[in-house]
Amino acid sequence: MDSGNSRQTIAAPPSPGASVPIDEYRALHQRSIADPAAFWLEAAEAVTWSTPPRQALDSSRAPLYRWFPGASLNTSFNALDRHVLAGRGNSTALIYDSAMLPARQHFTYSQLRDEVALFAGALRNQGVARGDRVLIYLPMVPEAVIAMLAVARLGAVHSVVFGGFAPAELASRIRDAGPKVVVTASGGLEPSRRVEYLPAVAEALDLADARDCSVIVKHRDGFTARPADYDQSSRRWLDWRDAVADAVPADPVDVEATDPLYILYTSGTTGSPKGVVRDNGGHAVALTWSMRNIFDVGEGDVMLTASDVGWVVGHSYIVYGPLLAGATTVLYEGKPVGTPDAGAFWRLIEEHGVTVMFTAPTALRAVRRADPDTAFLGTYDISSLRILFCAGERLDTGTSSWIGDVLGVPVIDNWWQTETGWPICANPRGLGGLPIKPGSPSLPSPGFDLAVLDGGGAPVPVGTEGNIALRLPLPPGALTTLWGSDERYEEAYLRAFEGFYVSGDSGYADEDGYLFVMGRTDDVINVAGHRLSAGAIEQALAQHPAVAECAVIGLEDALKGQRASGYVVLKAGVTREPSELERELVALVRRLIGPVADFRSAIVVDALPKTRSGKILRKTMRQMASGESYIVPSTIEDASVLDTLAPLLRAGSPRPGV
Ligand code: COA
Ligand code: AMP
Repeated sequence: MDSGNSRQTIAAPPSPGASVPIDEYRALHQRSIADPAAFWLEAAEAVTWSTPPRQALDSSRAPLYRWFPGASLNTSFNALDRHVLAGRGNSTALIYDSAMLPARQHFTYSQLRDEVALFAGALRNQGVARGDRVLIYLPMVPEAVIAMLAVARLGAVHSVVFGGFAPAELASRIRDAGPKVVVTASGGLEPSRRVEYLPAVAEALDLADARDCSVIVKHRDGFTARPADYDQSSRRWLDWRDAVADAVPADPVDVEATDPLYILYTSGTTGSPKGVVRDNGGHAVALTWSMRNIFDVGEGDVMLTASDVGWVVGHSYIVYGPLLAGATTVLYEGKPVGTPDAGAFWRLIEEHGVTVMFTAPTALRAVRRADPDTAFLGTYDISSLRILFCAGERLDTGTSSWIGDVLGVPVIDNWWQTETGWPICANPRGLGGLPIKPGSPSLPSPGFDLAVLDGGGAPVPVGTEGNIALRLPLPPGALTTLWGSDERYEEAYLRAFEGFYVSGDSGYADEDGYLFVMGRTDDVINVAGHRLSAGAIEQALAQHPAVAECAVIGLEDALKGQRASGYVVLKAGVTREPSELERELVALVRRLIGPVADFRSAIVVDALPKTRSGKILRKTMRQMASGESYIVPSTIEDASVLDTLAPLLRAGSPRPGV
C-alpha cells in the first residue's frame, strides 16, 4: 500500500489559543459545498489507499450516493499497521481502564495490531470472509476493539450491539444482519449486578432462528454460564482462547472504498431498528478530517471518550477516530459516578494524561449532582486536559458553563447522529476554533449543507425554528443506505423534502449561522444520550394482556435529559391496581427492550387523543406535558380526551424514587 500522509493545506493548525476567523471558516465550508470533489479528494490524501481515489463522488444512482468509487483500502490497516510501518509500533494505541474490576492494560500499536491479526485469523477459521457479517455483543473490554478491527481487517462487516439491550432487541438485529459469527463475553459489570450475556445471546439466537452461526466467548471470571453449557449441534460455542489457539494471523484484505465497514442499528419512529450502513473509504476520510480539524487530536494525544462502543460516539471516537489519527484511546469500563465516586473522570485524566475528553452531558450532570462542589477534583491533577467535547443530547447552558468553569477548558458542543457518523455541526478546534456560543454546536462541518425548513420544505427566516435538513449529497462518512433496504432508507430520510436528508431534529440558525438544536420532531426519545424508539416501547407495552392501546412520550428529566413515560388504556372490563400494573409494565419493557430504556412510569388513562384516522397525537401530548402552548389539531377525533388527560400530563408523572 502506498502512503499519502500529506497534510491538507486548509488544515494547517494555527497556534494554540488562536481562533479561525469566522469568514475564513465560512469560505472553507463553502468550498466543500461548491466543489466537494476537490475538497474530499484533498482530504483523502491523509488516508493510506491500495488504489487511491481518482473520483470523489458517484451520483449515478442519486439520491443514493457513493464516495470514492474505484478506490480500495483496508480500514484496520489504516488504524493500526500504517502506524507500525511508520515506526510508531511502540506508541500506546489503547489503554483499557476498568473501574469495575479494577484493572488497567496498555496496548502498543504493534501489540494491538498483532492481537487484531490473530483474532482475524480466528474469525477466518469460522468461515468469515469479505462482506460477511459478525455481530459483536461485548462490554467495554479490549476484545470489543480487537473484534471490531479484526472484522474490518477481513473486509467483513461488524454490527456492535450495546450490552443494555434485551434478547429480543438483539434477536431483531441478528435477524436483519444475518451474522456468521457472534462475538460475546461471559458478561458485563454494572455497579449493582453482573449481567450474564450467554443466556441472552442463546435466547436471541433461538428467537432469530440463527442456525449456522458460531459464538466466540471471551471468558470473564465470576460469571456462571460457559460456552460448553450450550448445545453444540445447532451452533458452535467457542472460548476466545480456543478460537485463537490454532489461528494464523490474517493480513488486511483490500476492500472497495464503497464496501460496508459496519452496520449500526439505531432507533427510529417505528419499532424495528434501522441498520445504518457505513462504508470504508468515506468513513476513513471523514473521521481522519474530523480528528485533525474538529477534535484537534493527533499523534501524542490521549483521547478519553466516555461512551460505549455500542453507540456511534464509541465507534467513531473511542475506536476508529483516535486510532486512524495515531493517538492513544482510553477505553473506560465504568460510570462517571459511583465507580467508586464522582472523581472517576478526573482520575482517568490524571492517570493517563488525557488531553482531549468527550462525553455526554448526562454524565456531567451526574457528576455535578453527586459532587456539586467538585471536592474530588481537588485531589487530581487534570492539567493535561485541553478540551472537553460533548454530544449525544442537548448540552444545556447550565451544565456547559458549570463544567467549563470547573475545568477551565473550552467545552465544545457537537451535534450529530448515528446516521452521520461524525459531527454535522461542531466548533473546529483543530483549525483554532470559532467563538463559542452557549447552547449552540456552532456551524456546519464541511460537506454538510444545512437548511432549516418549514413543513412545506421552504427555508424559514433566521431565528425561526424548523426542520433541520441536509441538502444531498451527504459528505463522506455519513450513512450510504440502510442495511438490506435502499427503499427504507429513502422512505425514512429522503422523501420528506425533495433533495434533502431530514435529520428528525428541529432547531434554528441565528444571524451568524450558528445552529441551535431544540429536539426531535419524531417519536425518538433520548434517555441519557441513549436513543430509544417510542414505537418499540409501545410494542412492548402492547404485549401485556390488560393493555388495549398505549402511547409513549419523552418527558423532561433533570439528570437524563428525557425519560420515557407510558400511557395505557385497558381492555374493556379489565380493572387493575395501578401500581401493580405499572410494576408489570415496567418489568415487561425491561425484559423486551432492556434496562437501557430505563422505563419506570406507566399510567392508566381512559382514552388517548387521536386523529379521526386513528393516529395518536403524541406531539400534542408532549407539548402539554412540557407546558408548551399547543394547537388542538382540527383532525382530532374527540377533543374532550385532551381535557381529561391534561392534569395527568401536566403532573409530569414524577419519576419514582426522585
Ligand atoms: N449492560 C447492561 N445493563 C446496562 C448497561 C450495559 N452495558 N448499561 C446500562 N445498563 C443498565 C444499568 O445498569 C441500569 O440498570 P438498573 O435499572 O438495573 O439500574 C439501566 O441500564 C439504566 O442505565 P443508565 O442509563 O446507565 O443509568 P444509571 O442510573 O445506571 O447511570 C448515568 C446514570 C448518568 C451515570 C449514565 O446514564 C451515564 O453514564 N450516562 C452517559 C451516557 C452516555 O455515555 N451515552 C452515550 C452516548 S454519547
Ligand atoms: P444518536 O443517533 O444516538 O447519536 O442520537 C442522535 C440524536 O441525539 C440527534 O438526532 C439529536 O436529537 C440528539 N443529539 C445528539 N447530539 C446533540 C447535541 N449536541 N445537541 C442536541 N441534540 C443532540
